[in-house]
Amino acid sequence: MKFKSMALLMLTMAMPAMADQVTVNTQGVSLVLDVENGQPAKYLYFGARLDERDKANLSVTANGRMDVYPAYGLNTPAESALALRHADGNMSTALVATGYDSRQEANATVTVIHLKDAVYPVKVDLCYRAYKDVDLIEAWSEITNEEKGTVTLTTFASAMLPIRRGNVWMSHLSGTWASEGYVNNELLTPGEFVIRNADGTRNSHTDHAEVMFSLDGKGQENVGRVIGAALVYGGNYKLKAVTDDTDYHYFFAGINEENSEYHLRKGETFKTPALALTFSNEGLSGASRNFHKWGRKYVLAHGSQLRDILLNSWEGVYFDINQQGMDQMMADIASMGGELFVMDDGWFGTKYQRNSDNCALGDWEVDRKKLPDGIDGLLRDAKKNGVKFGIWIEPEMTNTTSELYEKHPDWVVKAPKRDAVLGRGGTQLVLDLSNPKVQDYAFSIVDNLLSKYPEIAYIKWDANMGIMNHGSQYLSMTDQSHLYIAYHQGFRKVVDRIRAKYKDVVIQCCASGGGRANWGMLRDFDEFWVSDNTDAFQRIYMQYGTSYFFPAIAMACHISAVPNHTVFRTTSLKYRIDVAMSGRLGMEIQPKNMTDEEKALCKKAISQYKEIRPVVQMGDLYRLVSPYDNEGLASLMYVSEAKDKAVFYWWKMANFYNVHLPRVKMAGLDANRIYKVRELNAIDLKPLYCEGKAYTGKYLMDHGLEMPYTNEVEWGKKTDWSSRVIYLEAE
Ligand code: DGJ
Repeated sequence: MKFKSMALLMLTMAMPAMADQVTVNTQGVSLVLDVENGQPAKYLYFGARLDERDKANLSVTANGRMDVYPAYGLNTPAESALALRHADGNMSTALVATGYDSRQEANATVTVIHLKDAVYPVKVDLCYRAYKDVDLIEAWSEITNEEKGTVTLTTFASAMLPIRRGNVWMSHLSGTWASEGYVNNELLTPGEFVIRNADGTRNSHTDHAEVMFSLDGKGQENVGRVIGAALVYGGNYKLKAVTDDTDYHYFFAGINEENSEYHLRKGETFKTPALALTFSNEGLSGASRNFHKWGRKYVLAHGSQLRDILLNSWEGVYFDINQQGMDQMMADIASMGGELFVMDDGWFGTKYQRNSDNCALGDWEVDRKKLPDGIDGLLRDAKKNGVKFGIWIEPEMTNTTSELYEKHPDWVVKAPKRDAVLGRGGTQLVLDLSNPKVQDYAFSIVDNLLSKYPEIAYIKWDANMGIMNHGSQYLSMTDQSHLYIAYHQGFRKVVDRIRAKYKDVVIQCCASGGGRANWGMLRDFDEFWVSDNTDAFQRIYMQYGTSYFFPAIAMACHISAVPNHTVFRTTSLKYRIDVAMSGRLGMEIQPKNMTDEEKALCKKAISQYKEIRPVVQMGDLYRLVSPYDNEGLASLMYVSEAKDKAVFYWWKMANFYNVHLPRVKMAGLDANRIYKVRELNAIDLKPLYCEGKAYTGKYLMDHGLEMPYTNEVEWGKKTDWSSRVIYLEAE
């Protein structure tokens, strides 16, 4: 919401006497608007890049409401992107164009359509950033109040997009804690389809701020026209597809305005978060690839840097932390070829020891009873073992049982005149990041750690509570409705300060598992924890869904113990490895409880993952068989940009005798190249029939390789799980 000053290089167009076509192009996508002085700006087109001749033929359709940014007031029954109360109480707004500009950025062109109310001095700039090398357009609005008094914004979408009706399906992700990222596909029918979040701090447990629209019937992975939309925002959002009596669906996306009316003071500008829009003719996977490329290049922290293979202490020891134990875990991950050790929750608290989740958040002093040599000792052990070191924090939170809360009870989010509803452990509270003093404090947690211990390479930033209590002890009573937005503005300020000072540190955003999988967060974070549920079988569903919008490099996927600590399922180690290896690989286990044979298998997997890491983390994703289609298996693959390397994953999802699984056709390869097959993480007694053989890309894509339905190991070691990872290298 910060208002960035316009770049110097700005080109102001003479106002058109007649309507102008304003075109926002990427290499493969066009957005065309009709802009005429004194008239509302209208949509002409959004989709695959247009030929100039076809563009010349465009006209505003009469079959739908094509206002680019419909405001409330003069067509009250229609859904609006903007609704506001003017300083004098008038509830109506009517926006007309006054011109448009464009400016060049290093990798993008930003086009701005200027609108204003015909009667009131309220201005709206509609901004579109079109990237030169990825098919993605960011759309947002900037609302400026030039009235004499305060204007109250009651609806403030980032953008609206009309989508032509006709067998349009919407894909979105839903879930809950430990079951995030589930794919839902719905046919859009008359009515409203609303996806909203009101958690306050985390926004991707129950639903996601990203959707895809398949325009040619139920979405397919690698064919068909798909529009993708992702709101680049970590706070409460609302995505809405409205279908009424016209030929169009109207898609609105932005900050959730519920209980959040915003008082825009005289002279102020409110900048909405960007809506990232893409279009692909290559189905859902094609739209995913566009998001992934954009995300890695322009959003994700260190998006072009390969991620370390780590061991996280949480599921291995939980709060049972001690110096010797950490040293042992570091030695173990190092011996398996891992590169980083992360000490999770439980290392801090002096007056109140953090032995469970009910105290000490905010007291970020090492617990010397557990760790007598402090962080110095941990860093020393990490160095000795040849691994990097990372540490867990939860900077936005406190517990009522903490020294911080005793000192600053006024820093917590709490409804005025009421006792606070408490969260995790029966004592947790959210700190009020709208308060600059709290922002300074949150910054200081990271600053103290990193300035004193610059060797800390990784931070796991957790957030385990939503805003349950609507109330800020900092904001005025008039502005209590700003809480959710001010919280995220404050959060952004803290993270901006951290990133300005500590550019290199890797930061994971975790929020009770996958509560912060969104592009708003990832601007300053390197990755997210997909879920607290590490069960390999359920992870296939979650990771498959999450991959709709997020690249493997950002998805933390860890090998854990069995029976799994969340669902108590026992899967084979090979299966757990093969699932975790399809994202950013790590471990979440107590290695000292593993057998030598298990450690050897993990060691082999880690070394092979290092070989394929660039393909997995930087390659193009092709989803092949969805676990949601109940075909008895799931499959996907990554292909390097040069199409010279690929990694194919095959996981059996159902185990019945005499089952008949489809053969999987590959995708994304170069039909004319020859690829040599190598199985990774092989455990079978005999090599695969195709091991070492060479196949044309055409054969692999038209026909595919048979995968034996079981892993053929010694009798006593057979399990009901089966999976394969195949590495393809072009000759
Ligand atoms: C929730 C996270 O998702 C877990 O990975 C772990 O860090 C715990 N918090 C620690 O309290």
